[in-house]
Amino acid sequence: VTSIAVLTSGGDSPGMNAAVRACVRVGLSLGCPMFIVERGYSGLVDGRLRSMSSRDVAGFITAGGSLIGSSRCPTMMEPGGPEQAIATLEAHGIGGLVVIGGDGTHRGARELHRRGVKVVGVPSTIDNDLPHTERTIGFDTATNTLAMVLGKLRDTAASHQRTFVVEAMGRGSGWIALHAGMAAGADAILIPEVEWSREAVLSGLLRRLDEGKTFNLLVIAEGAGDADELAKWLDRQTPDMLEVRACIPGHIQRGGTPSVSDRLFATELGARAVQALAEGRSGIALGLRGATIEEHSLEAACGEKRRIPRELYDLALQVG
Ligand code: F6P
Repeated sequence: VTSIAVLTSGGDSPGMNAAVRACVRVGLSLGCPMFIVERGYSGLVDGRLRSMSSRDVAGFITAGGSLIGSSRCPTMMEPGGPEQAIATLEAHGIGGLVVIGGDGTHRGARELHRRGVKVVGVPSTIDNDLPHTERTIGFDTATNTLAMVLGKLRDTAASHQRTFVVEAMGRGSGWIALHAGMAAGADAILIPEVEWSREAVLSGLLRRLDEGKTFNLLVIAEGAGDADELAKWLDRQTPDMLEVRACIPGHIQRGGTPSVSDRLFATELGARAVQALAEGRSGIALGLRGATIEEHSLEAACGEKRRIPRELYDLALQVG
């Protein structure tokens, strides 16, 4: 029976702890000694491993962030980095590794896999941008958080007849902006996947003003532009007509207790990851299609970002 280590890497996302908990508890039930690596790949490079009992993950299901620590670790992509990580795994007699994170995490896993490490990737990033899965752990929670922020801004925007430009996280992708914007009834949603111009945004706002709409919520994905800049520009173009403010919720979108849906999804993925290792499958990345968790190659998980379906964006325009 092989010993298995678990790590979380990259930007933390709500539900990571639930995945770690499931790995530890299901792994132990399969008879595998379980370990966690502190602070992602950097802990692997530096040799920070801890043996875990079932009690050690008590309370993990509801906790936000990553209780075992996370990091972005450039060393993993540098010459000698993966070898250092492998030396740690060998020193602790670890036969399998579960990595929980986003694109950088899966690229690190691919390096280890190429050097013979038995590794399984679990998709976890608020950005929802991995190519091989329709969903990542943390996206649901982050989207709900931003939708809640938008709801609060709507109250004050309506009271003062103001226009708010709200910046969504998501790095190069517009998933959080689109889902939260749609769910909050935003008046415009700007994402990097779809071309936009500030002139078109302005004329849309003026048209709405003509129709009697006295306040607005605009969501702009961080990969599509700068909320401050757009707010200032719109404000300058519309003296005495619109009063525009920017709001950048930033890392608030990463924190907080995971949604029920993220807790369950993370639990299933964590369980599947250690089951795969215990059954001798590795070099794989878990992903969701429809209602089914599938196993893909790590290569597939390192491809182009997942695109936003144009129909969904068009629907947002239609109803916004
Ligand atoms: O990948 C998650 C994410 O929160 C992105 O949405 C954002 O662009 C980035 O991480 C921020 O990174 P950091 O926390 O390192 O500033």
